[in-house]
Amino acid sequence: MVLDLAQRISADYKGRDLVLIGVLKGSFIFLSDLIRQLTIPVKIDFVQASSYGNDTQSCGSIRLLKGVDLNIRGKDVLAVEDIVDTGLTIRWIIDYLMSFQPRSVTVCTLIDKQERREVDVPIAYTGHAAGRGFLVGYGLDYAEQYRHLPEIYHLNL
Ligand code: IMP
Repeated sequence: MVLDLAQRISADYKGRDLVLIGVLKGSFIFLSDLIRQLTIPVKIDFVQASSYGNDTQSCGSIRLLKGVDLNIRGKDVLAVEDIVDTGLTIRWIIDYLMSFQPRSVTVCTLIDKQERREVDVPIAYTGHAAGRGFLVGYGLDYAEQYRHLPEIYHLNL
């Protein structure tokens, strides 16, 4: 799955000036695996926005904890997320990234929980579709636990 995404991204952005923006913290393992399968040069940066606290529900209000360091003006930007759920976080991040006037902003997510979407967000690259359960492992957490698990598991709450 990661290889397939990396091949598509490599083909789509060949000859372009691509910056991958990992959305911390959940995407860190996915991003690490993804970039090692790319066949094009890329730059890497990270953003972090607070969404969930110790709960499994989005609180709706989003705060920027870490912004971009690289100059992305005029660049093609690919935001790499762990999960798009209601869409509120990535919608906010897309708008934030757009404020730097990049050439383009697209989204790659490991998991798409489409059923729970509240705002419309275009997602160019999706690893897996998922239903309503809460997922942990492979970078995904529940109250900062379980990120280290090598696979993705459903959490029984
Ligand atoms: P949204 O703003 O509702 O789209 O929430 C997106 C964020 O919530 C993701 O980046 C995750 O950090 C977190 N999240 C949503 N669902 C899950 C899950 O099943 N497991 C772990 N984190 C999740």
